[in-house]
Amino acid sequence: MLLSRVSKLLSPVLSRSNHTITLFPGDGIGPQISESVKEIFSAAEVPVEWEEHEVYPILEKNGKTRIPQPAIDSIFKNKIGLKGPMRTAIGKGHVSLNLTIRRTFGLYANVRPAKTVPGVSTPYSAEGVDCIIVRENTEGEYSGIEHTVVPGVVQSVKLITREASRNVAEYAFKYAVDNGRSNVVALHKANIMRMSDGLFLEECRNVAENYPQIKYREMYLDSACLKIVKDPSQFDVMVMPNLYGDIFSDLTAGLIGGLGLAPSGNMGKEGIAIYEAVHGTADDLTATNKGNPTALLMSGLMMLRHLELKSHADKIEKAVLETLKERKFVTGDIGGTATNPQYTAEICRKIRASS
Ligand code: IPM
Ligand code: MN
Repeated sequence: MLLSRVSKLLSPVLSRSNHTITLFPGDGIGPQISESVKEIFSAAEVPVEWEEHEVYPILEKNGKTRIPQPAIDSIFKNKIGLKGPMRTAIGKGHVSLNLTIRRTFGLYANVRPAKTVPGVSTPYSAEGVDCIIVRENTEGEYSGIEHTVVPGVVQSVKLITREASRNVAEYAFKYAVDNGRSNVVALHKANIMRMSDGLFLEECRNVAENYPQIKYREMYLDSACLKIVKDPSQFDVMVMPNLYGDIFSDLTAGLIGGLGLAPSGNMGKEGIAIYEAVHGTADDLTATNKGNPTALLMSGLMMLRHLELKSHADKIEKAVLETLKERKFVTGDIGGTATNPQYTAEICRKIRASS
């Protein structure tokens, strides 16, 4: 009796500290920037526990690639993961681990915000960039269906399904509504890829009808590239097939100062989400620990907001933005000389000073 009353009283406290997050540190600078995120979260007393798993490719007899079972089980149990970059060997036997993870967990939408960072000077700093790319994340040219027709002639299949197109369109519109945004533009090449991009657009239009409060437009991808580098302020939420989203999100990362600042979230069904930086393993920076952890950290902040740990996310974000603005301890990719540990220590110092 007494015990149950005590546990009832404690339950709000216990549930607040109950988030277990799966961490895949990854390759190259991955383990170093993951360490930074852990240090910064602990300085901000974020109520999370980490469950770390190594991920490596396992080539099955049928030629398919999978990741180790404990890593799979951990995501299905915790639902939420943070993932460092993973190396992809070009032309080797196995499928990229990054793609394997997206497929294994059905992470159908990849959200990639690009927002101006104070202190990082770009041609767009004055007017500011603030757009969201929603990339289809499971098919298109990434479906991995390729074969040799005859020696010297290969064929790659761009697979587009109504279901995946609808899912990602639905995500983009819902995201716009939930985040107080008023425009969604679908980027495509349906003038050339008539059937595949045509089907993608058809589903975007169908979904748009259910969201009369959101202004919906369509734009050719090439035209959007031109327009966004001339004036990013005309863009808000953008939805597009997989490969276009891959390329376009590097472009938008460039508009805000580089990949070191570009976060993302891979969103699945039933609450599963894995957050990761847009960048790769940056192997050249590993020996000196000079990688920039900001993109992974910002991905971690998207994750905290998803977990409704908004005040923790805000507190960390404030310290990060101040550190970037001061420019005393920033990394080489954005014009500084600091190492990752020096930058991380400064953020932790600011967080501790503010609480
Ligand atoms: C990204 C990356 C990946 C992709 C690679 C590493 C497979 O470039 O997340 O944008 O092409 O999707
Ligand atoms: Mn990419």
